Amino acid sequence: MKDKINQILENALNELESASTDPKAIDTVRVKYLGRKGELTSLFKQLGKLPPSDRPSVGKLLNEARDKLEEAIETAIKEAKQAVVKAVGKFDVTVPGRKPLVGRLHPITQTAREICRIFTQMGFEVVEGPEIELDYYNFEALNIPKDHPARDMQDTFYISEDVVLRTHTSPIQIRVMEKRKPPIQIIAPGKAYRCDSDMTHTPMFHQVEGLMVGKDVSFADLKGVLTIFVHQMFGAHVGVRFRPSFFPFTEPSAEVDIQCVICNGEGCRVCSHTGWLEILGSGMVDPAVFQMVGYDPEEVSGFAFGMGIERIAMLKWGIDDLRLFFENDLRFLDQFA
Ligand code: DAH
Repeated sequence: MKDKINQILENALNELESASTDPKAIDTVRVKYLGRKGELTSLFKQLGKLPPSDRPSVGKLLNEARDKLEEAIETAIKEAKQAVVKAVGKFDVTVPGRKPLVGRLHPITQTAREICRIFTQMGFEVVEGPEIELDYYNFEALNIPKDHPARDMQDTFYISEDVVLRTHTSPIQIRVMEKRKPPIQIIAPGKAYRCDSDMTHTPMFHQVEGLMVGKDVSFADLKGVLTIFVHQMFGAHVGVRFRPSFFPFTEPSAEVDIQCVICNGEGCRVCSHTGWLEILGSGMVDPAVFQMVGYDPEEVSGFAFGMGIERIAMLKWGIDDLRLFFENDLRFLDQFA
């Protein structure tokens, strides 16, 4: 019996040796000797047939043989794993996989795209313009001369005397009108910059500019187009109001208010208890602006509008802190799937 045990162990170790680092071959050896019907396992079952005086010593030998083989198999498995790692290079293929992070569009990008989608459905074309802009396009051609008080309102970042970071997306109107003849229907999203930073202002923010120019474009068109926009963006039940205002580049001018989306017009902290929220500036293009781009104000008319994308996004989702858009905390951004 003892010879048999030693023989079986020797065979097993030899076979393990030739299995080398092949995991399948290693497992075959394990099953052949230690499996339920394995050669060593069946010897354990024969222990009972031995004379009682032999059982302790044979049992001990069997246990030792099994332990030795188990240890050898474990070592072989470890070496097999290391062989794979070596073959593949620096990657440990046995490490569990990492779940890839899924990216999403930033809520500001989503809002800009939604705004553009609504206007393109009404026949507007999306265009862009430079963020580093000439003073001429940012102010002069928009009927804001050098000494105009509106320049103070804008807290301009100057790069040189004639070059600024655009303070709004309105200069894109001028660039488009200079290059094309009416009819024009454009929508222009982009970044704007003002030297301003507090709870409700950031030095960089986003705007969308709109312009429609043609024969007989009227204030009724302005009201119709912007009302459709509000209803698509915030829901058909939301009230819209056009309030007289002033911009140097439009005459007449109007600011557009929507019924407060927080309190439905009842009056709350967000709408300063007025029931209304301002969302954009607009107006009929000033004849002086048409003259700057070589259009005849007697021949064509048009309307323009501009809105802050952060503001639209905050109202749409009920976000009360502007800074959330710029901190890029994934716990916040993750919510805009
Ligand atoms: N440019 C203005 C601003 O930054 C927004 C604006 C108002 C744009 C009226 C327009 C407009 O085109 O007609 O506050």
